[in-house]
Amino acid sequence: MLPESQNKLLTSVGPGTPMGELLRRYWWPIAGVSEFDGNPVKAMRLLGEDLVLYKDLGGKYGLVDRHCPHRRADLSYGFVEQCGLRCNYHGWLYDETGQCIEQPYEDTAHPEVDLKAKIRTTAYPVQAKAGLLWAYLGPQPAPLLPDWEFFNFQQGFRQIVISDVPCNWLQCQENSIDPVHFEWMHSNWSVRLNNATGPYTPTHIKVDFTEFDYGFQYKRIKADTNELDPLWTTGRVCLWPNALYTGDHIEYRVPVDDENTLSVGWFYDRVPRESEPYHQDDDKIPTWHGPIKDEKTGRWITSHVMNQDFIAWVGQGAIADRTQEHLGASDRGVAAIRRRFLADLEAIKEGKDPKAVIRDPEVNRNIEVPIAFRKALQEGKSINDKDLRKRFVFQAGQPESVKLAFEAAMGFVSETVVDADSREFEKAAFGR
Ligand code: FES
Ligand SMILES: [Fe+2]
Repeated sequence: MLPESQNKLLTSVGPGTPMGELLRRYWWPIAGVSEFDGNPVKAMRLLGEDLVLYKDLGGKYGLVDRHCPHRRADLSYGFVEQCGLRCNYHGWLYDETGQCIEQPYEDTAHPEVDLKAKIRTTAYPVQAKAGLLWAYLGPQPAPLLPDWEFFNFQQGFRQIVISDVPCNWLQCQENSIDPVHFEWMHSNWSVRLNNATGPYTPTHIKVDFTEFDYGFQYKRIKADTNELDPLWTTGRVCLWPNALYTGDHIEYRVPVDDENTLSVGWFYDRVPRESEPYHQDDDKIPTWHGPIKDEKTGRWITSHVMNQDFIAWVGQGAIADRTQEHLGASDRGVAAIRRRFLADLEAIKEGKDPKAVIRDPEVNRNIEVPIAFRKALQEGKSINDKDLRKRFVFQAGQPESVKLAFEAAMGFVSETVVDADSREFEKAAFGR
Protein backbone atom coordinates (compact mmCIF):
# COMPACT_ATOMS: atom_id res chain seq x y z
CA MET A 1 0.00 0.00 0.00
CA LEU A 2 1.18 3.52 -0.74
CA PRO A 3 -0.01 6.83 0.69
CA GLU A 4 -1.96 8.82 -1.85
CA SER A 5 0.79 11.44 -2.10
CA GLN A 6 3.36 8.81 -3.13
CA ASN A 7 0.98 7.22 -5.61
CA LYS A 8 0.51 10.61 -7.24
CA LEU A 9 4.24 11.32 -7.12
CA LEU A 10 5.15 8.03 -8.83
CA THR A 11 2.47 8.15 -11.52
CA SER A 12 2.58 11.79 -12.70
CA VAL A 13 4.75 12.01 -15.81
CA GLY A 14 4.07 15.46 -17.27
CA PRO A 15 6.67 18.20 -17.67
CA GLY A 16 7.61 19.78 -14.36
CA THR A 17 6.47 16.84 -12.21
CA PRO A 18 9.24 15.13 -10.20
CA MET A 19 8.70 11.74 -11.84
CA GLY A 20 8.32 13.36 -15.26
CA GLU A 21 11.71 14.99 -14.75
CA LEU A 22 13.24 11.68 -13.63
CA LEU A 23 11.84 9.73 -16.58
CA ARG A 24 13.09 12.39 -18.99
CA ARG A 25 16.64 11.22 -18.14
CA TYR A 26 16.18 8.10 -20.30
CA TRP A 27 15.81 7.34 -24.00
CA TRP A 28 12.36 6.06 -24.91
CA PRO A 29 11.46 3.80 -27.87
CA ILE A 30 8.52 5.48 -29.57
CA ALA A 31 8.13 4.01 -33.07
CA GLY A 32 9.50 1.56 -35.61
CA VAL A 33 11.88 2.75 -38.32
CA SER A 34 9.88 0.82 -40.93
CA GLU A 35 6.73 2.81 -40.08
CA PHE A 36 8.25 5.79 -41.87
CA ASP A 37 8.69 4.09 -45.25
CA GLY A 38 5.36 5.28 -46.61
CA ASN A 39 4.24 7.75 -44.00
CA PRO A 40 6.90 10.22 -42.87
CA VAL A 41 4.91 12.20 -40.28
CA LYS A 42 3.36 10.79 -37.12
CA ALA A 43 1.56 12.52 -34.26
CA MET A 44 2.90 11.36 -30.91
CA ARG A 45 2.09 12.05 -27.30
CA LEU A 46 4.93 11.35 -24.92
CA LEU A 47 5.35 12.12 -21.21
CA GLY A 48 2.33 14.40 -21.42
CA GLU A 49 3.66 16.40 -24.38
CA ASP A 50 2.00 16.59 -27.81
CA LEU A 51 4.67 16.11 -30.46
CA VAL A 52 5.23 15.20 -34.09
CA LEU A 53 7.79 12.64 -35.18
CA TYR A 54 8.96 12.88 -38.79
CA LYS A 55 11.59 11.67 -41.22
CA ASP A 56 12.58 14.32 -43.73
CA LEU A 57 13.46 13.71 -47.37
CA GLY A 58 17.13 13.89 -46.45
CA GLY A 59 16.62 10.93 -44.09
CA LYS A 60 16.91 12.85 -40.80
CA TYR A 61 14.45 12.28 -37.97
CA GLY A 62 12.93 15.05 -35.91
CA LEU A 63 10.57 15.25 -32.94
CA VAL A 64 8.97 18.67 -32.53
CA ASP A 65 6.09 20.34 -30.73
CA ARG A 66 2.74 19.47 -32.29
CA HIS A 67 1.72 23.13 -32.73
CA CYS A 68 3.41 25.49 -35.15
CA PRO A 69 4.84 28.54 -33.33
CA HIS A 70 3.34 30.84 -35.98
CA ARG A 71 -0.39 30.49 -35.28
CA ARG A 72 -0.55 27.05 -33.73
CA ALA A 73 -1.55 24.86 -36.67
CA ASP A 74 -1.16 21.09 -36.26
CA LEU A 75 2.25 20.04 -37.59
CA SER A 76 1.18 16.40 -37.84
CA TYR A 77 -0.50 17.59 -41.06
CA GLY A 78 2.71 19.22 -42.19
CA PHE A 79 4.89 17.82 -44.95
CA VAL A 80 8.57 16.96 -45.00
CA GLU A 81 11.17 18.66 -47.17
CA GLN A 82 14.79 17.80 -47.94
CA CYS A 83 15.56 19.29 -44.54
CA GLY A 84 12.82 19.49 -41.95
CA LEU A 85 9.07 19.64 -41.54
CA ARG A 86 6.94 22.35 -43.19
CA CYS A 87 3.70 23.63 -41.70
CA ASN A 88 0.82 23.18 -44.15
CA TYR A 89 -0.82 26.49 -43.11
CA HIS A 90 1.65 29.18 -44.21
CA GLY A 91 4.69 27.11 -45.06
CA TRP A 92 7.06 27.84 -42.20
CA LEU A 93 9.78 25.19 -42.17
CA TYR A 94 11.55 23.75 -39.10
CA ASP A 95 14.68 21.62 -38.89
CA GLU A 96 15.34 18.82 -36.40
CA THR A 97 16.73 21.26 -33.82
CA GLY A 98 13.40 23.14 -33.90
CA GLN A 99 14.94 26.15 -35.64
CA CYS A 100 12.67 27.84 -38.15
CA ILE A 101 14.64 27.89 -41.40
CA GLU A 102 12.08 29.28 -43.88
CA GLN A 103 9.13 31.68 -43.73
CA PRO A 104 8.13 32.01 -47.38
CA TYR A 105 6.25 35.31 -47.21
CA GLU A 106 8.47 37.02 -44.61
CA ASP A 107 11.64 35.89 -46.40
CA THR A 108 10.33 37.34 -49.68
CA ALA A 109 8.73 40.58 -48.54
CA HIS A 110 10.86 41.49 -45.52
CA PRO A 111 14.13 39.62 -45.72
CA GLU A 112 15.88 42.35 -43.74
CA VAL A 113 13.81 41.50 -40.64
CA ASP A 114 14.93 37.84 -40.66
CA LEU A 115 12.07 36.92 -38.34
CA LYS A 116 12.80 33.20 -38.68
CA ALA A 117 16.08 33.58 -36.79
CA LYS A 118 14.04 34.37 -33.68
CA ILE A 119 11.70 31.38 -34.02
CA ARG A 120 12.63 28.05 -32.54
CA THR A 121 10.13 25.41 -31.50
CA THR A 122 10.55 22.67 -28.92
CA ALA A 123 12.52 19.80 -30.45
CA TYR A 124 14.03 16.63 -29.02
CA PRO A 125 16.80 14.38 -30.31
CA VAL A 126 15.87 11.12 -32.03
CA GLN A 127 18.08 8.12 -32.76
CA ALA A 128 17.48 4.90 -34.64
CA LYS A 129 18.65 1.64 -33.14
CA ALA A 130 17.62 -1.97 -33.68
CA GLY A 131 14.77 -0.90 -35.95
CA LEU A 132 13.32 1.37 -33.26
CA LEU A 133 13.25 5.15 -33.05
CA TRP A 134 14.23 6.51 -29.65
CA ALA A 135 13.58 9.96 -28.21
CA TYR A 136 15.23 11.85 -25.37
CA LEU A 137 13.22 14.62 -23.69
CA GLY A 138 15.54 15.43 -20.81
CA PRO A 139 18.26 17.88 -19.93
CA GLN A 140 21.46 18.01 -21.95
CA PRO A 141 23.91 16.47 -22.19
CA ALA A 142 21.86 13.44 -23.15
CA PRO A 143 23.12 10.08 -21.86
CA LEU A 144 24.01 7.30 -24.30
CA LEU A 145 21.34 5.16 -25.87
CA PRO A 146 22.04 1.76 -24.28
CA ASP A 147 23.76 -0.78 -26.52
CA TRP A 148 22.18 -3.91 -25.04
CA GLU A 149 23.76 -7.11 -26.28
CA PHE A 150 20.47 -8.50 -27.56
CA PHE A 151 20.19 -5.68 -30.07
CA ASN A 152 23.39 -7.06 -31.63
CA PHE A 153 22.31 -10.70 -31.81
CA GLN A 154 22.55 -12.04 -35.35
CA GLN A 155 20.66 -14.75 -37.28
CA GLY A 156 17.31 -13.49 -36.04
CA PHE A 157 13.97 -12.53 -37.52
CA ARG A 158 12.77 -9.51 -35.59
CA GLN A 159 9.43 -7.74 -35.45
CA ILE A 160 8.09 -4.74 -33.54
CA VAL A 161 4.57 -4.56 -32.15
CA ILE A 162 3.05 -1.33 -30.84
CA SER A 163 -0.17 -1.00 -28.83
CA ASP A 164 -2.02 1.81 -27.11
CA VAL A 165 -2.89 0.82 -23.57
CA PRO A 166 -5.26 3.16 -21.70
CA CYS A 167 -3.65 3.25 -18.25
CA ASN A 168 -0.66 4.68 -16.39
CA TRP A 169 2.74 3.24 -17.34
CA LEU A 170 3.87 2.32 -13.78
CA GLN A 171 1.31 -0.43 -13.25
CA CYS A 172 2.46 -1.87 -16.60
CA GLN A 173 6.06 -1.81 -15.45
CA GLU A 174 5.18 -3.37 -12.09
CA ASN A 175 4.09 -6.35 -14.18
CA SER A 176 7.75 -6.68 -15.23
CA ILE A 177 8.70 -7.87 -11.76
CA ASP A 178 5.80 -10.16 -11.00
CA PRO A 179 6.71 -13.85 -11.34
CA VAL A 180 3.53 -15.35 -9.87
CA HIS A 181 1.20 -13.80 -12.43
CA PHE A 182 2.66 -16.08 -15.13
CA GLU A 183 1.21 -19.08 -13.35
CA TRP A 184 -2.29 -17.66 -13.14
CA MET A 185 -2.74 -15.08 -15.85
CA HIS A 186 -0.97 -16.96 -18.63
CA SER A 187 -0.81 -20.66 -17.79
CA ASN A 188 -3.89 -21.43 -15.77
CA TRP A 189 -6.23 -18.85 -17.26
CA SER A 190 -5.26 -20.09 -20.73
CA VAL A 191 -6.25 -23.61 -19.68
CA ARG A 192 -9.64 -22.25 -18.72
CA LEU A 193 -9.94 -20.10 -21.85
CA ASN A 194 -9.39 -23.31 -23.82
CA ASN A 195 -12.45 -24.78 -22.11
CA ALA A 196 -10.50 -27.18 -19.92
CA THR A 197 -10.64 -27.19 -16.14
CA GLY A 198 -7.13 -28.53 -15.71
CA PRO A 199 -4.53 -29.60 -15.15
CA TYR A 200 -3.09 -26.39 -13.79
CA THR A 201 0.62 -25.65 -14.05
CA PRO A 202 2.90 -26.54 -11.12
CA THR A 203 2.64 -23.79 -8.55
CA HIS A 204 5.34 -21.34 -7.45
CA ILE A 205 6.95 -22.32 -4.17
CA LYS A 206 9.69 -19.70 -3.87
CA VAL A 207 10.44 -16.33 -5.51
CA ASP A 208 13.33 -13.94 -5.06
CA PHE A 209 14.35 -10.52 -6.37
CA THR A 210 17.84 -9.10 -6.80
CA GLU A 211 19.01 -5.74 -8.04
CA PHE A 212 21.82 -5.26 -10.58
CA ASP A 213 23.24 -2.23 -12.38
CA TYR A 214 20.59 -2.13 -15.11
CA GLY A 215 17.50 -3.39 -13.34
CA PHE A 216 16.24 -6.23 -11.20
CA GLN A 217 16.14 -9.99 -11.67
CA TYR A 218 13.21 -12.00 -10.48
CA LYS A 219 13.65 -15.67 -9.77
CA ARG A 220 11.31 -18.54 -9.22
CA ILE A 221 11.16 -22.16 -8.14
CA LYS A 222 8.02 -24.02 -9.04
CA ALA A 223 6.79 -27.36 -7.74
CA ASP A 224 8.50 -29.06 -10.72
CA THR A 225 11.85 -27.18 -10.58
CA ASN A 226 14.70 -26.75 -8.13
CA GLU A 227 17.56 -24.40 -7.28
CA LEU A 228 19.52 -25.51 -10.34
CA ASP A 229 16.87 -24.24 -12.70
CA PRO A 230 17.90 -21.24 -14.87
CA LEU A 231 14.72 -19.45 -13.83
CA TRP A 232 16.10 -19.56 -10.28
CA THR A 233 19.85 -19.15 -10.92
CA THR A 234 19.37 -16.35 -13.48
CA GLY A 235 15.67 -15.57 -13.68
CA ARG A 236 14.12 -12.88 -15.79
CA VAL A 237 14.96 -9.22 -16.10
CA CYS A 238 13.06 -6.07 -15.20
CA LEU A 239 15.23 -3.76 -17.29
CA TRP A 240 15.52 -0.21 -16.00
CA PRO A 241 13.48 1.89 -16.03
CA ASN A 242 10.62 0.56 -18.14
CA ALA A 243 11.01 -2.89 -19.65
CA LEU A 244 10.68 -6.63 -19.25
CA TYR A 245 13.37 -8.68 -20.98
CA THR A 246 13.00 -12.43 -21.29
CA GLY A 247 15.64 -13.49 -23.82
CA ASP A 248 13.47 -13.74 -26.90
CA HIS A 249 11.80 -10.37 -26.54
CA ILE A 250 11.70 -7.09 -24.72
CA GLU A 251 8.55 -5.20 -23.78
CA TYR A 252 8.85 -1.46 -23.19
CA ARG A 253 6.17 0.50 -21.32
CA VAL A 254 6.37 4.06 -22.61
CA PRO A 255 4.47 6.79 -20.74
CA VAL A 256 2.18 8.70 -23.11
CA ASP A 257 0.61 10.69 -20.28
CA ASP A 258 -0.67 9.90 -16.79
CA GLU A 259 -3.45 7.67 -18.12
CA ASN A 260 -2.00 6.15 -21.29
CA THR A 261 0.93 3.95 -22.18
CA LEU A 262 2.52 2.87 -25.43
CA SER A 263 3.47 -0.79 -25.32
CA VAL A 264 6.45 -1.33 -27.60
CA GLY A 265 7.44 -4.97 -28.04
CA TRP A 266 10.64 -6.02 -29.85
CA PHE A 267 10.75 -9.72 -30.69
CA TYR A 268 13.70 -11.84 -31.78
CA ASP A 269 13.31 -15.33 -33.23
CA ARG A 270 16.58 -17.01 -33.98
CA VAL A 271 16.33 -18.90 -37.26
CA PRO A 272 17.04 -22.65 -37.25
CA ARG A 273 20.67 -23.60 -37.82
CA GLU A 274 19.70 -24.99 -41.23
CA SER A 275 18.45 -21.54 -42.30
CA GLU A 276 21.68 -19.71 -41.48
CA PRO A 277 23.15 -17.44 -42.57
CA TYR A 278 20.20 -15.11 -42.20
CA HIS A 279 20.31 -11.35 -42.08
CA GLN A 280 17.52 -8.82 -41.60
CA ASP A 281 18.36 -5.13 -42.03
CA ASP A 282 17.36 -3.01 -39.04
CA ASP A 283 15.32 -0.65 -41.20
CA LYS A 284 13.37 -3.58 -42.62
CA ILE A 285 12.18 -4.94 -39.28
CA PRO A 286 8.39 -5.02 -39.70
CA THR A 287 6.40 -2.85 -37.30
CA TRP A 288 2.72 -3.53 -36.75
CA HIS A 289 0.00 -2.24 -34.51
CA GLY A 290 -1.48 -4.77 -32.07
CA PRO A 291 -5.17 -4.27 -31.25
CA ILE A 292 -6.20 -4.75 -27.65
CA LYS A 293 -9.99 -4.73 -27.99
CA ASP A 294 -12.20 -7.26 -29.76
CA GLU A 295 -14.27 -4.95 -31.97
CA LYS A 296 -17.14 -7.45 -32.18
CA THR A 297 -17.68 -7.85 -28.47
CA GLY A 298 -16.14 -4.65 -27.11
CA ARG A 299 -14.20 -6.79 -24.63
CA TRP A 300 -10.42 -6.96 -24.31
CA ILE A 301 -8.69 -9.62 -26.43
CA THR A 302 -7.69 -12.64 -24.32
CA SER A 303 -6.05 -14.91 -26.89
CA HIS A 304 -2.39 -13.84 -26.60
CA VAL A 305 0.12 -13.50 -23.79
CA MET A 306 0.61 -9.73 -23.78
CA ASN A 307 -3.07 -9.12 -24.46
CA GLN A 308 -3.70 -10.96 -21.20
CA ASP A 309 -1.24 -8.66 -19.45
CA PHE A 310 -2.99 -5.61 -20.88
CA ILE A 311 -6.21 -6.83 -19.27
CA ALA A 312 -4.53 -6.87 -15.88
CA TRP A 313 -3.09 -3.40 -16.36
CA VAL A 314 -6.21 -1.63 -17.58
CA GLY A 315 -8.24 -3.56 -15.01
CA GLN A 316 -6.28 -1.81 -12.26
CA GLY A 317 -7.85 1.48 -13.36
CA ALA A 318 -6.51 4.41 -15.37
CA ILE A 319 -4.13 5.04 -12.47
CA ALA A 320 -4.02 2.12 -10.03
CA ASP A 321 -5.15 3.24 -6.59
CA ARG A 322 -2.26 1.91 -4.54
CA THR A 323 -3.84 3.20 -1.32
CA GLN A 324 -6.27 0.28 -1.63
CA GLU A 325 -3.89 -2.58 -2.41
CA HIS A 326 -2.57 -5.33 -0.11
CA LEU A 327 0.93 -6.48 -0.99
CA GLY A 328 2.17 -9.94 -0.10
CA ALA A 329 5.57 -11.63 -0.17
CA SER A 330 5.25 -12.20 -3.92
CA ASP A 331 5.15 -8.41 -4.35
CA ARG A 332 8.57 -7.68 -2.83
CA GLY A 333 9.87 -6.85 -6.31
CA VAL A 334 7.08 -4.37 -6.89
CA ALA A 335 7.92 -2.68 -3.60
CA ALA A 336 11.63 -2.68 -4.51
CA ILE A 337 11.18 -0.87 -7.80
CA ARG A 338 8.99 1.76 -6.15
CA ARG A 339 11.68 2.31 -3.51
CA ARG A 340 14.30 2.66 -6.24
CA PHE A 341 12.27 5.30 -8.07
CA LEU A 342 11.66 7.21 -4.82
CA ALA A 343 15.40 7.09 -4.02
CA ASP A 344 16.25 8.29 -7.54
CA LEU A 345 13.85 11.21 -7.17
CA GLU A 346 16.09 12.32 -4.30
CA ALA A 347 19.26 11.58 -6.30
CA ILE A 348 18.33 13.85 -9.19
CA LYS A 349 17.54 16.66 -6.75
CA GLU A 350 21.21 16.46 -5.77
CA GLY A 351 22.26 16.60 -9.41
CA LYS A 352 23.13 12.90 -9.62
CA ASP A 353 22.20 10.56 -12.43
CA PRO A 354 19.46 8.04 -11.64
CA LYS A 355 19.88 4.29 -11.99
CA ALA A 356 21.10 2.85 -15.29
CA VAL A 357 21.92 6.13 -17.01
CA ILE A 358 24.97 5.37 -19.15
CA ARG A 359 27.45 8.03 -20.18
CA ASP A 360 30.74 6.16 -20.67
CA PRO A 361 31.18 4.91 -24.27
CA GLU A 362 33.50 2.16 -23.00
CA VAL A 363 30.72 0.83 -20.79
CA ASN A 364 28.14 1.19 -23.54
CA ARG A 365 29.44 -1.60 -25.73
CA ASN A 366 27.29 -4.67 -26.18
CA ILE A 367 26.13 -4.54 -22.55
CA GLU A 368 25.45 -8.01 -21.15
CA VAL A 369 22.22 -8.67 -19.33
CA PRO A 370 21.18 -11.83 -17.48
CA ILE A 371 19.60 -14.36 -19.88
CA ALA A 372 18.24 -17.59 -18.42
CA PHE A 373 18.34 -19.65 -21.62
CA ARG A 374 21.37 -18.02 -23.25
CA LYS A 375 22.70 -21.22 -24.82
CA ALA A 376 19.63 -21.81 -26.98
CA LEU A 377 19.77 -18.20 -28.17
CA GLN A 378 23.46 -18.45 -29.00
CA GLU A 379 23.47 -21.85 -30.65
CA GLY A 380 20.11 -21.95 -32.34
CA LYS A 381 17.88 -24.97 -32.77
CA SER A 382 17.32 -27.57 -35.43
CA ILE A 383 14.68 -26.91 -38.05
CA ASN A 384 13.06 -30.12 -36.83
CA ASP A 385 12.52 -28.70 -33.36
CA LYS A 386 8.74 -28.50 -33.06
CA ASP A 387 8.98 -25.60 -30.64
CA LEU A 388 9.96 -23.33 -33.49
CA ARG A 389 6.76 -24.08 -35.38
CA LYS A 390 4.22 -22.09 -33.54
CA ARG A 391 2.12 -19.08 -34.27
CA PHE A 392 3.12 -15.71 -32.83
CA VAL A 393 1.89 -16.19 -29.30
CA PHE A 394 2.55 -12.77 -27.78
CA GLN A 395 0.05 -10.42 -29.39
CA ALA A 396 -3.11 -10.68 -31.46
CA GLY A 397 -3.33 -9.17 -34.92
CA GLN A 398 -0.10 -10.20 -36.61
CA PRO A 399 -0.46 -9.28 -40.30
CA GLU A 400 -0.30 -12.13 -42.77
CA SER A 401 2.68 -10.46 -44.49
CA VAL A 402 4.69 -10.60 -41.25
CA LYS A 403 3.72 -14.23 -40.66
CA LEU A 404 4.88 -15.11 -44.16
CA ALA A 405 8.13 -13.18 -43.74
CA PHE A 406 8.76 -15.03 -40.47
CA GLU A 407 8.14 -18.41 -42.10
CA ALA A 408 10.40 -17.54 -45.02
CA ALA A 409 13.18 -16.48 -42.65
CA MET A 410 12.82 -19.66 -40.63
CA GLY A 411 12.77 -21.83 -43.75
CA PHE A 412 9.29 -23.19 -43.10
CA VAL A 413 6.46 -23.79 -45.47
CA SER A 414 3.29 -22.19 -44.23
CA GLU A 415 1.21 -25.21 -43.34
CA THR A 416 3.81 -26.52 -40.90
CA VAL A 417 3.21 -23.70 -38.43
CA VAL A 418 0.79 -25.03 -35.87
CA ASP A 419 -1.77 -23.14 -33.91
CA ALA A 420 -0.99 -22.52 -30.27
CA ASP A 421 -2.65 -24.24 -27.38
CA SER A 422 -2.30 -23.59 -23.68
CA ARG A 423 1.06 -25.37 -23.76
CA GLU A 424 2.41 -22.50 -25.86
CA PHE A 425 1.37 -20.04 -23.20
CA GLU A 426 3.21 -22.17 -20.68
CA LYS A 427 6.30 -22.04 -22.85
CA ALA A 428 6.04 -18.32 -23.43
CA ALA A 429 5.55 -17.80 -19.73
CA PHE A 430 8.36 -19.98 -18.49
CA GLY A 431 10.66 -20.25 -21.51
CA ARG A 432 10.82 -23.99 -21.83
S1 FES B 1 0.50 28.33 -38.47
FE1 FES B 1 2.18 27.27 -39.21
S2 FES B 1 2.97 28.50 -40.80
FE2 FES B 1 1.28 29.59 -40.03
FE1 LIG C 1 2.52 -11.39 -18.28
